[in-house]
Amino acid sequence: MTGTTLARLMVAGSALTVIAAAALALDEPPGKTTAARPSVAEARQRAKLLHGVIHDTLQVVHARYFREGDRIPIPAASLDLVFQEMEERDGVAVRWLVVDGKAMNIDNNPQDDFERAAAKALAAGEDAHEAAVDGAYRFAGPITLGADCLKCHLPSRSSNKSRTAGLLISIPIEKP
Ligand code: HEC
Repeated sequence: MTGTTLARLMVAGSALTVIAAAALALDEPPGKTTAARPSVAEARQRAKLLHGVIHDTLQVVHARYFREGDRIPIPAASLDLVFQEMEERDGVAVRWLVVDGKAMNIDNNPQDDFERAAAKALAAGEDAHEAAVDGAYRFAGPITLGADCLKCHLPSRSSNKSRTAGLLISIPIEKP
């Protein structure tokens, strides 16, 4: 693990509420979420920050807190609860996306044209896929499925090379 990754992980570990804070504009009074919607450029920056924090949080929770075989919740499913809170509080919609590997939860399969295109792009190794339509900025970024993940995510694999899942983030933006 590199120093930079470690530094990012410390940020990620300190508090998941940072995620929510990052999704809010700082020029808003605290606790108020109804201010003007961000531009596409601002929404892109927020989505990238959220993607990095959520990616690293999932990896740390797996490495440090998850033991296969114990009856403890699957980290991706626990983070779904965080995503629900974010959507209710901040209007930022976040979901996992199945890219390659089998769907562990079929709710995470691509559900529309954007998500199908995103899954293709991430499978091809792109580091982001985005669109801005109908008052929303939509972002998809990769989630690394390393060898430890594959025993569940791709049991019938022929090699242990890393595979990819994805994270979908949708942020309301200003109307053109
Ligand atoms: C012990 C088996 C197991 C291991 C090991 C495992 N996962 Fe999962 N994973 C699951 C299950 C089960 C779900 C479905 C959870 C749900 O939504 O109910 C899941 C869901 C996910 C999802 C959502 C996409 C999907 O297919 O539903 C992501 C992303 C994810 N896991 C990432 C990881 C990462 C990253 C690792 C390794 C660091 C990992 N998982 C290791 C069992 C596992």
